[in-house]
Amino acid sequence: MAPRKLAAGNWKMNGDLAALEQIDILARDHAAANCDVLICPPALLVHPMAERATGIAVGGQDCHHAASGAHTGDISAEQLRDAGASHVIIGHSERRTDHGETDEMVAAKAVAAHQAGLTTIICVGETEAQRDAGETLDVIASQLAGSVPDCASAKNTVVAYEPIWAIGTGRTPTTDQIAEVHALMRRLMAERFGDGADLSLLYGGSVKPGNAAEIFAIADVDGALVGGASLKASDFGPIVSAL
Ligand code: G3P
Repeated sequence: MAPRKLAAGNWKMNGDLAALEQIDILARDHAAANCDVLICPPALLVHPMAERATGIAVGGQDCHHAASGAHTGDISAEQLRDAGASHVIIGHSERRTDHGETDEMVAAKAVAAHQAGLTTIICVGETEAQRDAGETLDVIASQLAGSVPDCASAKNTVVAYEPIWAIGTGRTPTTDQIAEVHALMRRLMAERFGDGADLSLLYGGSVKPGNAAEIFAIADVDGALVGGASLKASDFGPIVSAL
């Protein structure tokens, strides 16, 4: 099985009910896309989006590690699934920074998501200081080892490489830098999991219509996790088409 191609949008804390019309446009224009198309809106929009989206998968941006319980303000993987989600982003750098999520917490959330039947998109990425210090590959290897649980497989897991310094900045790594990290991720996942060579590996960080084709041409890049450019179908559509 070859890795599945995936164009994933992460709306972060953006969007409202009116923004759901972007899904109608995407569904209309990309009914015959060559890849899977996924949007991860804020949690409040998961259900209405899932009800409305035809041919577009819907995911959460985070979940709790417990299936239910006294965790005010949190959302479980089971609840996401119940609302119509098929995927959930886990360990995004904004969660790691804003909420102090560690690799161990990320792995626990991923286990909960898999138990609920969700596909996880597990995020890893280095800071600019770590890249400047030549630590990128070590950081990625360590995050993968700690964040990807033993129950991961090509069927339930996607890994996204998101260099923190490239998120929302308009800056991207060179194609060689992306290729180097993706080759490492492919090798490490293949070593650890029987079907690791079939895991979909996404790149995320300032992907735009203008650079998507170049990024998708890089070896071991099976798609993208897109932030700002996923909010409007007029931006995200051309990215989907480039994959
Ligand atoms: O998860 C997507 C992400 O962090 C990249 O954001 O806005 O740089 O595409 P952006």
